[in-house]
Amino acid sequence: MRGVILAGGRGTRLGDTTRVTNKHLLPVYDQPMIYRPIETLRGMGCDDILIVTGGENIGGFAQLLGAGFTYRVQEQADGIAGALAKAEGYVDGLFPVILGDNYFSAGFTMPDRPAIYTTRTDRPQAFGIYEPGVGRIVEKPKDPVSDLAVTGLYVYDDRVFDVVHGLTPSARGELEITDVNNWYLSHGLMDVHEVPGVWSDMGTPDSLLRAALHAQAAAA
Ligand code: G1P
Repeated sequence: MRGVILAGGRGTRLGDTTRVTNKHLLPVYDQPMIYRPIETLRGMGCDDILIVTGGENIGGFAQLLGAGFTYRVQEQADGIAGALAKAEGYVDGLFPVILGDNYFSAGFTMPDRPAIYTTRTDRPQAFGIYEPGVGRIVEKPKDPVSDLAVTGLYVYDDRVFDVVHGLTPSARGELEITDVNNWYLSHGLMDVHEVPGVWSDMGTPDSLLRAALHAQAAAA
């Protein structure tokens, strides 16, 4: 099975640590960050992995990971769904997509339908939040009505590319992955699962440290 890692973005929330290197190459305890999503996808059965990243970073990834991966460039910083569009033609059927800065302590079984994975958060304003009653996601809500964070692991099918091509940019000028997921949810084509184990994003100094401490405990 083929899977996709979205590893673009400028990593501005990590300040000067991402000025000269890509966020996904930073250490998370004893390994580069990108090793974590690779492990999650391999655990789901992926033997071929596509990495989508900004053009200026391809060299670093290739130097670290070498052959055995496919690389595609996201020319513009047009959002997570914009990066996902680059996977068109690489994947086929049902496939997992993971954000390169997402840490999961436990493994996943590949589902048989498109899916998202949620977990409780004490920072609901920082994530996409799933509203169970309504069955939709609100991206970084000012007044969250739930604490169910939508994590950066998604399972899609072929029709995701038609959905992405039909998107219009959000207020921040990006193609939002939340709009893709809301399309699937509103058409009854997506399941919502709970994350097993611990999840952390790694996009801020605090969340990166939290993930590193989990990784350290898991390695002990
Ligand atoms: C992205 C998504 C958000 C999701 C988060 C998970 O946000 O837009 O819905 O909850 O990843 O890590 P970002 O961290 O890119 O702002």
